[in-house]
Amino acid sequence: KVVAVILVGGPTKDNSGPNDLRVSDSVLDLGSTTGTRFRPLSLNIPKPLFPIAGQPMVHHPISACKRIPNLAQVYLVGFYEEREFALYVSAISNELKVPVRYLREDKPHGSAGGLYHFRNLIMEDNPSHIFLLNCDVCCSFPLPEMLEAHRKYGGIGTLLVIKVSPESASQFGELVADPVTNELLHYTEKPETFVSDRINCGVYVFTPEIFTAIRDVSSQRNDTATLRRVSSYEALQPATRIPADFVRLDQDILSPLAGKKQLYTYETMDFWEQIKSPGMSLRCSELYLSQFRLTSPHMLASGDGTKSAIVIGDVYIHPSAKVHPTAKIGPNVSISANARVGPGVRLISCIILDDVEIMENAVVTNAIVGWKSSIGRWSRVQAFITLLITQAEGVYNSKLGVTILGDSVAVEDEVVVTSSIVLPNKTLNVSVQDEIIL
Ligand code: GDD
Repeated sequence: KVVAVILVGGPTKDNSGPNDLRVSDSVLDLGSTTGTRFRPLSLNIPKPLFPIAGQPMVHHPISACKRIPNLAQVYLVGFYEEREFALYVSAISNELKVPVRYLREDKPHGSAGGLYHFRNLIMEDNPSHIFLLNCDVCCSFPLPEMLEAHRKYGGIGTLLVIKVSPESASQFGELVADPVTNELLHYTEKPETFVSDRINCGVYVFTPEIFTAIRDVSSQRNDTATLRRVSSYEALQPATRIPADFVRLDQDILSPLAGKKQLYTYETMDFWEQIKSPGMSLRCSELYLSQFRLTSPHMLASGDGTKSAIVIGDVYIHPSAKVHPTAKIGPNVSISANARVGPGVRLISCIILDDVEIMENAVVTNAIVGWKSSIGRWSRVQAFITLLITQAEGVYNSKLGVTILGDSVAVEDEVVVTSSIVLPNKTLNVSVQDEIIL
């Protein structure tokens, strides 16, 4: 049997409030490392449940797990409140006919520590292999192919890797693999100087021996802590203290095990992106919608009937949404439950969330429109894209403009909102550009 664990993380710890939003949050800023990058959208909903191509972000890796032979269980591991995932987990278990369970950590244990914390539960089915997936990556998840490759290689784990541009590689874990055997020879997490253009995609398959490797890191830490207390070394080095049960997969496991014939790599030639900012969720929506064309075309609006809107390219429309037949939708549009789209409306490259109302002749392009927002007649909600970016093409540090309306924002008639972020519950009666409306 095989089990899959998806790391969903948890709420950001900062107490700075919405005033901490910076202009760079409105754009794709690959250099940013703040935990607030998904705001204001994550003020309403845990990031893993934010809809991408009409489905919660975490739905995409879960449904990819369905393709794993002999899959017994999918576990979501995170430190969000249990109730935030309860509804979703029971709905998805029924829909996919795979048992999906949410396991809550009392505090963050790190990416490997989170897995280790639930080792007894995970091992209940006595799995031969354990998949570990970051929830904030967007790719085709070639899981059966990885498992097959791993069986051939042996060792305790195989990582999914991709080639990216040298400029963007330092945002990720960089690695060197043997071109013949695919063994992982060297691994450095987000290095300051260039190591390699092959990076870690955050998708792994392990044998249960991974638990021994994590335990060894924990006990080594305990030993060092004891030593420090004895020698009062700790007082000199306070910054190096990490709790024994906090273990990072990349720095603490992958780096030391590289070059020891324990870890191997499987390179994907398909798409891969990381979803850290709202701007990236729009890009990833586009990638998943185009994947639907191959894997689940029934998810896409066809726009063939006389009653339905004019549809261009890949578009998702929730069955409960009402879209006027004279509206023109697409490409890259997803419209969530109970949204209403009026006559003559034009939507291009946008995510329209639940209960949004878009009135006649409004235009929305390169934008995310938050739950229950309304856009008045002849209004425009838009952003200018300066460069289209993919990690593979590697135009790095460039800006993908996205306008974001938070929850329950009202844009009145004939107002133009350009490249801005609007926080929840605001009413806009004048046009704005490059602004953050608090
Ligand atoms: N449950 C749980 N508990 N999940 C966690 C924790 C934790 O304490 N810490 C992180 N995660 C989850 C995050 O939600 C995310 O899904 C995943 O683990 C990795 O997050 P980070 O450890 O913050 O790393 P990262 O996303 O900056 O980079 C990692 O992923 C890249 C690919 O997207 C690294 O592994 C990079 O090397 C890799 O390129």
